[in-house]
Amino acid sequence: MQTVSTRADLANALTLLKSGGKTLALVPTMGALHEGHLTLVRQARAHADRVVVSIFVNPRQFGANEDLAAYPRQLAQDSDLLRAAGVDLLWAPTVGAVYPDGYVTTVSVPGLDTMLCGMQRTGHFDGVATVVLKLFNQVRPDVALFGEKDWQQLTIIRRMARDLDLAFPAAGAIIGVPTVREADGLAMSSRNRYLSADERRRAAVLNQAMRRCIGAILAGDAAGPALDMLRRSILTAGFDRIDYAELRDADTLAAAVTHADGRLQSDRATRLLVAAHIGRARLIDNMAVEPAMATLPEPATAP
Ligand code: PAF
Repeated sequence: MQTVSTRADLANALTLLKSGGKTLALVPTMGALHEGHLTLVRQARAHADRVVVSIFVNPRQFGANEDLAAYPRQLAQDSDLLRAAGVDLLWAPTVGAVYPDGYVTTVSVPGLDTMLCGMQRTGHFDGVATVVLKLFNQVRPDVALFGEKDWQQLTIIRRMARDLDLAFPAAGAIIGVPTVREADGLAMSSRNRYLSADERRRAAVLNQAMRRCIGAILAGDAAGPALDMLRRSILTAGFDRIDYAELRDADTLAAAVTHADGRLQSDRATRLLVAAHIGRARLIDNMAVEPAMATLPEPATAP
């Protein structure tokens, strides 16, 4: 695996990688890699001849009071994992290589960027859209892969690609990969390392309560009380506060439509999305409102 950190070295490396008409997959990351990222890499290998991973802790997607300085940086360890996973090229630019002096442009996807996580994290999705478009233009991949754990991010990136007629990758070549979970259901995240042992144990309730909520909704319970039950379970487990717990249209992120009696209308794909704080960590999770998601993880496998 080759590692490059300047635009000139990236251009040279890409020319070699693409020679002979080889196709390219890009997995954009901020490093601190875990099994979720390695799953993206494995999927990428199934979609293209060559795999490029980017590691860039993007300052533009962190708010003033967020964890930019503390965000885990472990390039040597990440490189070993990517090399072992068979990645061809690691693009690890400096901040100056992405945002040179005089850089001013921002990409916005209005509407989608101010709801859900965007309500608490002003400007976050502008930062994400901007850096992802830059990474797409720098690498020009045939396909790009993102985790479904960041469902709103994936939706915004797909919308940006569609609205701007992107060709590398085309909107249809932006692939969402299902969330990788710990044995007790907690979604894998670089931020899980902020949890103490006790918080980590309690954090599993987030996903378990979501599965119960989905089960109740599919059994015909009204959405409002099912969401109230979910919120109560999360707070009782020791979460400090909930930013949102909502049912949304899976494609548009518009509020899910219910019948007059509060039951969910089931003709559109619906997603349950939650963000909640425990200790130093803000955890997010989302799941399709589908029967398969209503199954609880086996208690015996919990840590
Ligand atoms: O999901 C992430 O790790 C980041 O938001 C991304 C897509 C790499 C952009 O910085």
